[in-house]
This record gives sequence, C-alpha cells and structure tokens, in this order.
Amino acid sequence: MTQDKLKKAVGWAALKYVKFNSIIGVGTGSTVAHFIDALGTIKYHIKGAVSSSDISTAKLKNLGIPVFDCNTVDMLDVYVDSADEINKQKQMIKGGGAALTREKIIAAIANKFICIIDESKQVSILGKFPFPVEVIPMARSAVARELVRLGGLPEYRQNVITDNGNEILDVHYLQIVDAIALENTINCIAGVVSVGLFANRGADLVLVATTNGVMVIE
Ligand code: A5P
Repeated sequence: MTQDKLKKAVGWAALKYVKFNSIIGVGTGSTVAHFIDALGTIKYHIKGAVSSSDISTAKLKNLGIPVFDCNTVDMLDVYVDSADEINKQKQMIKGGGAALTREKIIAAIANKFICIIDESKQVSILGKFPFPVEVIPMARSAVARELVRLGGLPEYRQNVITDNGNEILDVHYLQIVDAIALENTINCIAGVVSVGLFANRGADLVLVATTNGVMVIE
C-alpha cells in the first residue's frame, strides 16, 4: 500500500471521533487533507472547524465547512492532526508544514488530541526528523546560535514565511532524550515564537495506519 493510501485510511478513520453538532480542531498536512475530505461528507452534522493554517482553512471553506476564529471558541472536544514523528509517550515533532504555532494553540484548547499517522511516523527516540522552531525574523541568527549551544544544527528554511509572518529554523542532529525539558528550554529563548516539540501537550489518542488496518493506541 502506498503511504498516501495509509494517510487516507487513517484520515477517514478519524471521522468516528467527531461528535454531532461540535466544532472540530483541524490540523495541517497531507494526512489531515484526507480527514478534511472525510469531514466534508458530514458537514451538515457539525457546527464547523477551527483551523491551524491558511491552507486547511481554504480547503475547509471550499467544502462548505464553516471556519471559526479561535478567539470565539472556549474549548474544543477534539483536535485532529498528524505528526512528523511520535514516540511511545505520544510526544511529537510537528511543523513540517510550518503550521506548528497555530497547531500548538489549537492543541492547547482541545480536550482530546487525536494524532493520525501512518506507521512510518513512529519512533523510539524523537529527533531524526529535524524539528522546526518558528522565530521572529530579526531574532533568527540569535536563536540559531542558542540552538547550536544546545547541540543542534539549525538550518534556515529558505523561502518559507509562516502564516504568522515569521521564519523557520529546522534543527538537525539533536537526539531528544528529555523532550519536555528541551521544549521548555527552547521556549525560553528570546525571539522564539514556538517549537515543534509537542511534549508538554502530547497526543491523547493515536490512530496508526498499517497495511493490516488502522490501529488505535490509547
Ligand atoms: C504541519 O505543520 C505538521 O505538523 C504536520 O502535521 C506534519 O508535518 C505531518 O504532515 P503530513 O501529514 O503531510 O505527513
């Protein structure tokens, strides 16, 4: 089975967790694109969505799903999003699509984070995938120097401006043993908007697409 077929299978499997008449938190990326397609088929049974990126917003609106401003929503029942890597503790690296900051905000107001992945995203130690750090443009070099001090190799993501008008540094070669400590440390560097380590707030439920079907990890 191709990776996209696995992404599609898990995107549609997440539909089961969408409650009638609710507002759904919607992530970003190629896996979530399938979830949005699935959501389109039940659009008259939900109130709408809060979206983590301009690209997901456009897709939701194209399908006729109302998109709410996050400021108008107190809490969400579920947030459905994918990840670039996830470990056994359900801690993740996210932000390959540069939407990490809005993803973190939506994850923070959701009761349940449902992570939808194909099996290639499961790892024992986070860090093979370079984790992104969103930075205020004027702080890019200063933040990069701090990341080098922490033992990483930050690489400026060329030609990418986030939906929030900021830049991305992708950090290579850091084996992440204590993801919570590292997330907290990087969050304290002046000029960092957010870091694509989702360790303090990890996933609650993981749906994994395998060639034998979709597995649920609680
Ligand atoms: C978007 O910024 C990311 O957090 C995505 O969730 C992650 O990159 C996974 O993307 P795919 O579903 O495209 O693999």
